[in-house]
Amino acid sequence: MTTISLASTAPSALEVDAIVIGIVPDEPAAPDAAGPGLRTAGGAQDVDRALDGRLAAALSALGATGKAGEITKLPTLGALTAPVVVAAGLGADAGPDALRRAAGAAVRSLAGSARVALALPAGSAEEVAAVALGALLGNYSFGRYRTGERKEPVAELTVLTGEETGGAVEALERARTLASSITLVRDLVNTPPSDLGPEDLAQIAAKVAGEVGLGVQVLDEKELAEGGYGGIVGVGQGSVRPPRLVRLSYTHPEAERTVVFVGKGITFDTGGLSLKPADAMDWMKSDMGGAGAVLGALRAIALLKTKVNAIGYLPLAENMPSGTAQRPSDVLTIYGGKTVEVLNTDAEGRLVMADALARSGEDSPDLLVDVATLTGAQLVALGTRTFGVMANDDEVRERVVAAAGRVGEASWPMPLPPELRKGLDSAVADIANISSERWGGMLVAGVFLAEFVPEGVRWAHLDIAGPAFNKGEPYGDTPKGGTGAATRTLVQIAEDVAAGTL
Ligand code: BES
Ligand code: MN
Ligand code: ZN
Repeated sequence: MTTISLASTAPSALEVDAIVIGIVPDEPAAPDAAGPGLRTAGGAQDVDRALDGRLAAALSALGATGKAGEITKLPTLGALTAPVVVAAGLGADAGPDALRRAAGAAVRSLAGSARVALALPAGSAEEVAAVALGALLGNYSFGRYRTGERKEPVAELTVLTGEETGGAVEALERARTLASSITLVRDLVNTPPSDLGPEDLAQIAAKVAGEVGLGVQVLDEKELAEGGYGGIVGVGQGSVRPPRLVRLSYTHPEAERTVVFVGKGITFDTGGLSLKPADAMDWMKSDMGGAGAVLGALRAIALLKTKVNAIGYLPLAENMPSGTAQRPSDVLTIYGGKTVEVLNTDAEGRLVMADALARSGEDSPDLLVDVATLTGAQLVALGTRTFGVMANDDEVRERVVAAAGRVGEASWPMPLPPELRKGLDSAVADIANISSERWGGMLVAGVFLAEFVPEGVRWAHLDIAGPAFNKGEPYGDTPKGGTGAATRTLVQIAEDVAAGTL
């Protein structure tokens, strides 16, 4: 268990294992003037004084430049109480995002230490929030399945602020809430699919709902079949672990508006009978990342007491090949009555999402947002870190992208070209689940989903296939494996809906 607290004491006398400071690149005053090429950011003055003003020069001698992502460790040799100063590069634009990432990278580099103080710039509530969130997120590790030795996360984090940093206590509490919710999502994504089937995830969602006071309803396979949820039933029927649909609800007594979130919850995606090759399957435990983000966001919204009504649907299924699995060319009836010809059982996400999107109309949403690890084409188009945002309304799309930007999540607006609908024509049903058109797979999936969005509802679709899972090395506040992508964006969207700006 990690604790995080605030203090406004001078860092030099703190009894901690390391002090984290920020550094930024610095141009010498004149082209031929000598200088360390970097300077320390706010919060580090006392550390510099204790080192006789030689901090920047010492770091420069170790090769530090102040660029974003850089971590440089400096032994203090008794000049400070703490044995080590960790300088985190903030880059030239040392805004809240840079602070969050730098705090994350610094704390991750200190795994195994007991106590760490962060003397990064924290003169405003926004900076406190960024440093605290980054520290908590960078401290993440998934140790549940490890035996033997491992570097434990830092036990005690202290964010050093100015004496008069207004709103710091609230900012810290918000960071705690966001971090614990994102941690939940990361844990769920990282959990091996043997231990997280649809029923397991539904039970965890119900448990979380109970802890924070969310309403919860779970439909089992029988209720799904009787209720006409043909997409979820069809995708789930190949697995011995039956599907579920979870509905989470949060209401605020003064709320005037309702936002509905839908998150793809395929607990493992083998592709079904349209089986994936091995190297495409090995990370498909992340295929419930959308459902995780919706659960995490609703948890945070409940704890933050956002003035909005928020509902979350988690369509949960395991996509397996077997004697009971759906076949390519089977026809499903989605909730509400539209039929889909399943030409490829690996395009399963859109089938379970269709049921939940259609069902969401019964909640009369002012805004509907779905989030899904939907297509490999998202990775082709935007890479591993930037999610695609599609919408049936230009303003909604722009404001969702803006909301993501404000919480430091990378996203990019994408179109839903109407001409792509033709490729989804089916010879036998209302629509096919894959297109005869080869290109624009992320957009095709969005065009498919649009067919199931209730009439007149403003809707945005987030394709987080890449961002949900980091196959590479950790960076900034992002670990290897499950990332918790889109969780903060959904919370921000709910706050914007509450404020009437989205
Ligand atoms: N879950 C995958 C998409 C995915 C790919 C997520 C890579 C994360 C990383 C989805 O169910 C899928 O298999 N999509 C197919 C659709 C195709 C058959 C039209 C894809 O993108 O290949
Ligand atoms: Mn698939
Ligand atoms: Zn999938």
